[in-house]
Amino acid sequence: MKRVAILISGGGSNMVALAQSMTGDHPARPVLVLSNDPKAGGLARARDMGLAVAAVDHKEFPNDRKGFEGELLAILEAAQPDIICLAGFMRVLSAGFVQRFEGRMLNIHPSLLPKYKGLHTHRRALDAGDAVHGCTVHEVTAALDDGPILGQARLDIGPEDTADTLAARLLPLEHALYPAVLRRFARGDRTPVLIP
Ligand code: GAR
Repeated sequence: MKRVAILISGGGSNMVALAQSMTGDHPARPVLVLSNDPKAGGLARARDMGLAVAAVDHKEFPNDRKGFEGELLAILEAAQPDIICLAGFMRVLSAGFVQRFEGRMLNIHPSLLPKYKGLHTHRRALDAGDAVHGCTVHEVTAALDDGPILGQARLDIGPEDTADTLAARLLPLEHALYPAVLRRFARGDRTPVLIP
């Protein structure tokens, strides 16, 4: 059975989808939910689900990414994860940290990568006049939002869409895509999942 740690910063809806998927014949189980924000709503949700939770407040490490990542690393290593899922984790991790977990760290990003790396993806898709938007699960490498793509879900943009409606309409697709990718990945299968 593969051990999965999930890193979050906010509400944790992707974390919930991932954790709920890991039952029955699923080849993985959640062993830790870790946040850079002790007040993240997702931590309470994880606790309510009976999951192990931890937080390292990045604000206690001003201008000290090494110190922050050192704390993250100590907690992560104690949980002995085989796979790490970034699920709305909004801190950029250093190359050294990422390399420590090379080939076993995944991220979900709210755009059809390689389009719109970084922030404000919904706004940027609208401003570009795109007809289609979506989300991507990819392997994490040292370059931001850049690693091998493991799955994508697509969504038609409508004339009435705003950044907020796009974000809201995309979220259920994220909740379908990420668990589907993790299920494959935990079996060692990196064939991309495509929805639709
Ligand atoms: C999700 O839309 C996820 O794709 C995005 O943050 C949201 C987290 O929601 N991630 C990023 O923007 C990463 N750069 P959640 O906390 O409800 O899962």
